[in-house]
Amino acid sequence: MIAFPMTEKNVNLSEFNDPGLEVLITAEAISKRIAEMGEQITRDYAGRRPLLVCVLKGAMVFMADLIRSIDLPLAIDFIAVSSYGSGTRSTGEVKIIKDLDAPAEGRDLIFVEDILDTGLTLSYLLENFRARGTSSITIAALLNKPDRRKVEVHLDYKGFDIPDEFVVGYGLDFDERYRNLPYIGVVRSVG
Ligand code: IMP
Repeated sequence: MIAFPMTEKNVNLSEFNDPGLEVLITAEAISKRIAEMGEQITRDYAGRRPLLVCVLKGAMVFMADLIRSIDLPLAIDFIAVSSYGSGTRSTGEVKIIKDLDAPAEGRDLIFVEDILDTGLTLSYLLENFRARGTSSITIAALLNKPDRRKVEVHLDYKGFDIPDEFVVGYGLDFDERYRNLPYIGVVRSVG
């Protein structure tokens, strides 16, 4: 048995079967839906070479699966924006921490997001990138919480509508935990 260094108290060593989590969307349902989204993007972008921009960190798992379901030549890049910190509610402040490696001018951008919540992050990114002379911009988000919206944002490719609950897994975290879960779960209690 490997001796696991415990750096925090009360760390539950099983993240996958954490009793404090309730499964909201199974790994199978996620994978089926992403295949459909990929087919839709493949049809919509036929003849073009879209630039998929992953909004770090939460969207990285979704991004990895989504690009493998798109049957087109494409390019990828990553952007990091200031996030919620260790709480569960948005402060409303958005700042780019890591920008794209190459200019977005003339490109067909698809922002890849884990979840559309208040809409503040994506509305900021849309405004910022429209000023950069992109050819087109669309948004693909795995999850959508319509009840929490503060700013209207058009979602071109949507995985699932979910209720106003704090969710984790499949890239989404609670204080950096649970990103490695293969499913989307709701935190009922933190162990
Ligand atoms: P928005 O700017 O409020 O739309 O927030 C978008 C970001 O907030 C997402 O990319 C997530 O990083 C984070 N977020 C919003 N809701 C949740 C949640 O339920 N679980 C984990 N992260 C969330």
